[in-house]
This record gives sequence, C-alpha cells and structure tokens, in this order.
Amino acid sequence: MELKLLDVSKEFQDIAAVDHVSYSLANGVYGLLGVNGAGKTTLMRILCTLLKPTSGSVTWNGKDIFAMDGEYRKLLGYLPQDFGYYPDFTVYDYLMYIASIKGLRPAVAKRRTDALLAQVGLSNMKQKKMKKLSGGMKRRAGIVQAMLNNPRILILDEPTAGLDPNERIRFRNLISELSEERLVLLSTHIVSDIEYIANEILLMKKGRITMSGTAETLIHSMPEKVWSCEVPKAMVDSFLKRYKVANVKTVHGGARLRIISANPPAENACLETPSLEDVFLYYFGEKAGQEDDQI
Ligand SMILES: Nc1ncnc2c1ncn2[C@@H]1O[C@H](COP(=O)(O)OP(=O)(O)OP(=O)(O)O)[C@@H](O)[C@H]1O
Ligand SMILES: [Mg+2]
Repeated sequence: MELKLLDVSKEFQDIAAVDHVSYSLANGVYGLLGVNGAGKTTLMRILCTLLKPTSGSVTWNGKDIFAMDGEYRKLLGYLPQDFGYYPDFTVYDYLMYIASIKGLRPAVAKRRTDALLAQVGLSNMKQKKMKKLSGGMKRRAGIVQAMLNNPRILILDEPTAGLDPNERIRFRNLISELSEERLVLLSTHIVSDIEYIANEILLMKKGRITMSGTAETLIHSMPEKVWSCEVPKAMVDSFLKRYKVANVKTVHGGARLRIISANPPAENACLETPSLEDVFLYYFGEKAGQEDDQI
C-alpha cells in the first residue's frame, strides 16, 4: 500500500502553501514538522480530498484519490486542526452521529464506539456532554471519531495542541497502538511529540518538504555542530546575536549556552550530542514550540 504525492502544489492567490511536493508514504507513523504557516494543514487537507491541488497528483496504490472519491474516503480517518463537535451532544451521541455519516451500521458503530472509548480511556465519559470535556478529552474523542471506520490512513492535524504533559505521553502511546497496519500522518510543531513515535519525520518549510528521514538521519544530516559554553552575563547578548542559541541557562555570574555553529563559539566550548530540537532550530532558524505555549 502506498500513498503517493507527485509534484503537488497548492496556491492561494500569491502564496504557494504547498510547493511541488513529491513523497511516498506507506505503513507506519509519519510526523510532519513545521512552524506556523509552513503548509501542513493545506497538505493534509489535500490528502483528505478536501482541497484540490493547483497542480500535481495524489494516488493511493496507483489510483488517483480524487477519482476514487467515496472509495478513498472509506479508507480515511481525519482529525482536523480545529475539529468541530456538537457541544450539547453527549460523547456517545456525537460518535454515533459521526458513525452514521460515515455509513456504519448501528450495531457496528456501537461496537466500535465502545471499544475505541475504552482504548482512549473515555468509557466513563460516554454520557457527558462534549462541551463538558477537558481539552485533552475532546482531542481523544476527536481521535475516536477519526478511527470509527477503522481507517487504513489516519491523518491527525496537531492532535497534541493544548494537551498537558501527561496527556501527551498517553497520546504517544495511543498513536503507537493505533499505528499497527495503518498509515498515520500527524502534524505538529512540537519536536518531542514525534521524536519517539514517528518512523519518519518530514520537515516542512514554506510549502516544501526540505528534509525527511528518521530522527537519527536528520540529526546526522545537520552540517553544523552543537556546543555548550559558559559566558559572562555581559556577553550573553552578543552571543545571542551572533549564534543560533538553542538554550540559555542562567548560572552563577553568567549563562550556559547551547549553540549551533560550524566552529567552536568560544575557547572553552565543549561538543554536545545533537538532538532533534537542535535540528529543528538549525533548519527553521527558530526554536520548536514549547509544550506550554500552545493555543
Ligand atoms: N484558504 C486559504 N486562503 C488563503 N491562504 C491560505 C488559506 N489556507 C492557508 N493559507 C495560507 O497558506 C499557508 C499555509 O497555511 P497552513 O494552514 O497550511 O499552514 P500550517 O503549517 O498548517 O500552519 P499552522 O502550524 O499555523 O497550523 C499560510 O501562509 C496561510 O496563510
Ligand atoms: Mg495547521
């Protein structure tokens, strides 16, 4: 099984939101990583047939997904970035409603709903109104609605937005569980969310997939090195101006800096083991989203 993008572009007026993307996806977890406005949602909406590309094609096992139409959508589960729900529906009624839209028979819908609610730990929330759920619980209900038809392709747009650290861990485990025999594509701008669960990471920048591979491949592809050094307080600003600084930690009399640079930034600088966060900073020129700066 293969989902293949061939030279896909999507233009909005003068913006190339997706710019000549070619990529092939098979079973496994793919993490689409990029800053705000990189084109992640646009690309995902194309893969869900909600947007037609301006040019290029997308095929599933060699067949055009837009020509496959309903046949393709049967294979698809999608959690949109701003996922809509009906606030006054109970969790159960909401899910049964989505199941009916997806054309599931009521008996099958009931069985799937119960099994999935148990899997995401929401069984005891079944009769609660959607509006009463916490942000993390809503996301979980969102994942359940995407999974109702047991999709071969699961597309999750920023599924971890607004989750607390415990929810994030639960989410990572859940994705690993759900990814068996499935293609899962999820987007985020939080490196730690995909570092451990994505088999392949796609870096998206200004509509293009600029790099891809496993976390190790991306780390090894970084041409510059990662250093740490201690500098006096008065020098911190000039280091921040001159270098890509991944981290600043205040220490007595100054700061310990983590710096990405081809050459040692100071005489006392020590080489560090690069992380995916460093790669993100190197390629995007800015730090990855922090876990607490969501929404
Ligand atoms: N319907 C639209 N009309 C015009 N421009 C659009 C439309 N949708 C997206 N864009 C533009 O396309 C670019 C990519 O947007 P997109 O939402 O795909 O990015 P993203 O990577 O999902 O960002 P975020 O991380 O903020 O969700 C942006 O410049 C955005 O302003
Ligand atoms: Mg988006």
